[in-house]
This record gives sequence, structure tokens and C-alpha cells, in this order.
Amino acid sequence: MKKSFPDKLFACWHPVSYSNEIKKTKPFGTFLLDQPIVIWRSSNGKVHAMKDLCIHRGTALSLGWIKNDCLVCPYHGWQYDKNGDCVLIPQSPKTNIPKKAKTPVYHCNEKFGLIWVALKKPIYPLPEIPEFENGKWKLVNTGPFDWKSDASRQVENFTDFGHFPWVHPGLLGDQKRPEVPDYKVEIKNAVLHYSVIRPESVNTDDFPIFANKEIMKPKRKSIYCLHLPYTIVLRLGWGGVKGMIYFFISQPISSNKCRGFCIVGRNYNLKEPDTIIQNFEQVIFNQDKKIIESQRPEQVPFDFAEELHLKFDSVAMNYRKAMIKEKLNY
Ligand code: FES
Ligand SMILES: [Fe+2]
Repeated sequence: MKKSFPDKLFACWHPVSYSNEIKKTKPFGTFLLDQPIVIWRSSNGKVHAMKDLCIHRGTALSLGWIKNDCLVCPYHGWQYDKNGDCVLIPQSPKTNIPKKAKTPVYHCNEKFGLIWVALKKPIYPLPEIPEFENGKWKLVNTGPFDWKSDASRQVENFTDFGHFPWVHPGLLGDQKRPEVPDYKVEIKNAVLHYSVIRPESVNTDDFPIFANKEIMKPKRKSIYCLHLPYTIVLRLGWGGVKGMIYFFISQPISSNKCRGFCIVGRNYNLKEPDTIIQNFEQVIFNQDKKIIESQRPEQVPFDFAEELHLKFDSVAMNYRKAMIKEKLNY
């Protein structure tokens, strides 16, 4: 049986595309929480989000085009302005346009090179990432990663360090050191905070992406902020000035479909071609994908009796607790 999404999930910012996917010439169609959405840019560069459905005969507006700062339906050419109002019906230009001729408009924002949409007035702010705005860090967009799972599963996978030696041996972990170090999770304003220090896994010749080379006993500190429901800011450090940030967010397309956006920022290796880190993440996310798509149920279960939790699963347990407390679970 299909579960319905909780109301509060509609009142959260969700990513729907990278900024550079939205051109001034063409609308872009996607889905958010099963709702069809069309994203488009007006001539001043501003992005707009609307329901991807023409009131006339239910055609997807994203198949149309942009003209006079309006979205044009591809079927009979009706034009919708940025407020979602139909302003032209070419078949009868002289009759008054009925009030009902409109399509719902959603909250839309552009930040960190991503387009964000909230279907209802957003209740949480977007995270702060000052490093991404000081101009000294190089940001690389990776993915996006389309998985047949709920967004909660994709996010949880990103937080789960117990799997590194098993799913990513040689890249993120080592099966000779599978232990998860102790850590504590704190929850403040719908954000989970925790950090771990682990022995560094080595850079491979194919993917020389971490900053660990010059350190004698490489250790990597990972500081996580998990913003409910599906946003993670992960800061990696090696005890020096070099830093790396993973900004990972999952778009909840449907209850068994999601798209992960992962922006990787670094203040070192600024000249390294983007493809090195993009290819590295493609390998990592592909290794994860088949595991996560096999998980049942497709959504993270919020009944603790359905799974077996041990102490090192504290992030997973706290994620479930916090989602329940904020009424974001389903
Ligand atoms: S279906 Fe859109 S104009 Fe007719
Ligand atoms: Fe993984």
C-alpha cells in the first residue's frame, strides 16, 4: 500500500536541479513528493517553480517553451506568467480569461548552485556554508545520483560509516579495521551534530583526492551536520588548514525514487580537473546504489522493532527519533 507523505515534508526546501541545468531558453520538468514541477528562468535570471500542468487539458508545461517571460503550453499555446496566471489564450484572445486559468506557484530559491523548491511555506532555513561563499574554495558538482529508493535511505547511507570497509574497500575503508569509533550525537533545531575520527584510508593513484599525503599518521576527522529531513554538510579535516566539504542532499521524487546532489568543496588541489572527483563519486555512489535499492522497505522504517540497532548505529537511531519528533516520518 502506498503511504502518503506527511504535511511537513511539503514545507521543507528540497533540491530539484543543479543551477546550470536551468537555462533561460527551456523549462525543466521534475517531480517532488509525487507532484509534477516545472522550473524556468525569466529574462532577469530569476527562477520560478510551478505545478507542471496546464489547466486547459492537463499537458505538462515543461514540454513547452518560454516567451515574453511567460511559460507557453506546447498543446494550444496558452501563456502563464511568473505568478502562474494565464495571460493569453490564443484561440480566443478577445474573451476575458477565466479566473480559474492558472497553475499553482511554489516557493523557489537558488543557492549553492542548486535550485530549491518548497511546496508550502518552508519551516526550516537552508544550511549555512560560509566556506562555499568566500570564493576561496573550489566547488565541484557530482552526480546527480538517481536511485530507486526513498530519499531517507539515500541520506542514511551517506551517514553510515560502518559500511565503508565492506562496500568501498580500498577507497573509503579497510576491512582490517572495521571498528566504528565512539561518537555522540546531539540534536539542535532539527539538525543532528556528530563527528568521528578514523584512520585515513589511502589515496589511490586513480583518485588522488584527499589531503593526507604529507601527514605521518593520517587521521581524518569528519564533522557531520544532518539537517532534517535530507540534507548533510560533512566537513573533513586532517589536522591542518586543508579542508574538504561534502554537501549532500537528496530530492524526494517519490516514496521509492530519489535523486542525490553532491557538491564537493576543497581549499586545496584547486587545479585538479573536476572529472577526477566526479569519477570517484560515480564509483562510490554506484557501489552504494545496488545495496540501497535492495533494502526493504524502500523507506527508512520508523518502528524501532523492525530492525536491529546496535550502539554504533547511533546516527541511524537518532535520525529516526528526530524525524518522528519533527513529524517528518511516514
Ligand atoms: S493543454 Fe495547455 S493550452 Fe491546451
Ligand atoms: Fe557508501
